[in-house]
Amino acid sequence: MLRQSEKTVLFIPALGKGRKMAKVLVIGGAGYIGSHVVKALLEKGHQAAVYDNLSTGQKVNLFEQAEFIEGDILDSGLLFDTLRNGFDAVVHLAAKKAVGESMEKPNKYSINNIQGSLNILMAMAECGVRHIVFSSSAAVYGMPEYLPVDEAHPLNPINYYGFTKLEIEKFMDWYDRLKDMRYVALRYFNAVGYDSEGKIRGKEKNPQNLLPIIMETAAGVRDGMSVFGSDYDTRDGTCIRDYIHVSDLASAHVLAIEKLIEGMPSAVLNLGTGEGTSVKEMIDAAEKVTGKKLNVTYAGRRAGDPATLIASSEKARNLLGWKPQITDIEEIIRTTWNLEH
Ligand code: UFG
Repeated sequence: MLRQSEKTVLFIPALGKGRKMAKVLVIGGAGYIGSHVVKALLEKGHQAAVYDNLSTGQKVNLFEQAEFIEGDILDSGLLFDTLRNGFDAVVHLAAKKAVGESMEKPNKYSINNIQGSLNILMAMAECGVRHIVFSSSAAVYGMPEYLPVDEAHPLNPINYYGFTKLEIEKFMDWYDRLKDMRYVALRYFNAVGYDSEGKIRGKEKNPQNLLPIIMETAAGVRDGMSVFGSDYDTRDGTCIRDYIHVSDLASAHVLAIEKLIEGMPSAVLNLGTGEGTSVKEMIDAAEKVTGKKLNVTYAGRRAGDPATLIASSEKARNLLGWKPQITDIEEIIRTTWNLEH
């Protein structure tokens, strides 16, 4: 049991007239994206509970208003015991997500991502929980054949992590057909930033992604950093990505739950801004925001990196009425830098 003071207390406005409250189990809700989803749910007047094994999730990311169940998705019994308590929907974000590691340790990804997700679907089916929002990834597309990448783009993952995400999407599609379960798979592009109110304080440990590495370099946690490739066919030779703020990702989850409960059919949706930022532009913006000069080394290309990856999120905009709010790259960096000092 957590001490009261360890959890964050949120101010929750009264539920708007005529809005239906949903009871949602956020699996992986103590993690980076999950904690932002829990905050967004609570702020819209929904009831949230967190199921997390704390392998990468952190207690400091929990909220006083969301019940916490410490549990693993490989524990089918506990999943069943939890899900039979009248949940309207599940948000599933519990997964291993290191692309490089997935190529070296595929078993770890088969067990945690695929088996774990099947356990969730089976427990949901047994308990009659009919809605799931799943955290998928742009990694299901592999190397882009055209830009921006829309949901009709061919699906050719080039790493085992992306393969696991695609397989889980297919399992959900079968559970839709066979068990009347509706899903929304949200294919994130590059998730960045932190809650701009500073309510989520758990920094990711051993980050592998560009912006947290830049932040650690600016904060002096790292002596320097490398730019992987400066000879790409892009405006400054470095890779371009579509960076989407985590609070905007979170709001899409809440909208997806609300739409599913209203009766929307299952859907697969990209989440990005539609704008690209290069590695060099990210570093320049970070130097401006932090006032620090970064020790940057230009290194060779990293295997498997496409030059440019940009999302078309028209479908999410149309189906969910979703629109990213925090799109200015300096503002995004500021929400991350706030955590470093
Ligand atoms: N980069 C550097 N130096 C670093 C780290 C990253 O130059 O120290 C570059 C990468 O080469 C890439 C860009 O910064 O060009 C972004 O890299 P990230 O590792 O932050 O993100 P990726 O685009 O490689 O990966 C993201 C998600 C994955 C997902 C993948 C494919 O983190 O989960 O997109 O959609 F699988």
